[in-house]
Amino acid sequence: MKRIAVLASGQGTNLEAILKAAKSGEIAGRVELVISDRRKARALEIARRWGVKALFINPADYRDRNTYDAAVVEELQRAAIDLVVLAGFMRLLSAPFVRQYPLRIMNIHPSLLPAFPGTNGVEQALAYGVKVTGCTVHFVDEGLDSGPVILQEAVPVLPDDTVETLHQRIHAVEYRLYPRAIDLFCRDKLIVEGRRCLIVD
Ligand code: GRF
Repeated sequence: MKRIAVLASGQGTNLEAILKAAKSGEIAGRVELVISDRRKARALEIARRWGVKALFINPADYRDRNTYDAAVVEELQRAAIDLVVLAGFMRLLSAPFVRQYPLRIMNIHPSLLPAFPGTNGVEQALAYGVKVTGCTVHFVDEGLDSGPVILQEAVPVLPDDTVETLHQRIHAVEYRLYPRAIDLFCRDKLIVEGRRCLIVD
């Protein structure tokens, strides 16, 4: 069984979907640890409710990003984590962090990358006027939302969509897509060749 850590800053609805999928056996791995950079993150409450170790690591206690990330990595190593899952974690990981876990950190982004990276992917898509957007699960590299794509799914933009309605439909897709990508990793079904991530049977 692969050992998973989830890093989350906010609502934690993806975290909840992942915990459900792991419990029902849809993910061949266990969530061992949840870390947040926000004391009040609902993600921490959800983790505790599910009986998962939940840690708040306060950025204000560290002088810069590298020292903060080193503290996070220390906790990940202590828990012998195989896969780091970013689920609404609002911090860009430092290069040393990423290098500790090459192709072992995943992120979910609410657009069809490489379109609309960074924060506000949903707002950006709506403002641009695209007819189709979606979500992307990708490995994390040292850039911004730029690592190899694992899974993507399209979501149509409707004429009367607001950021809220569109994000809600994207979220619903994320709850299916992220557990699937995590399960593929846990069953060693993902092979990365350059930028391409292949799913093997
Ligand atoms: C999701 O839309 C995800 O794509 C983005 O942050 C949001 C997190 O939502 N990276 P939640 O905290 O899982 O509800």
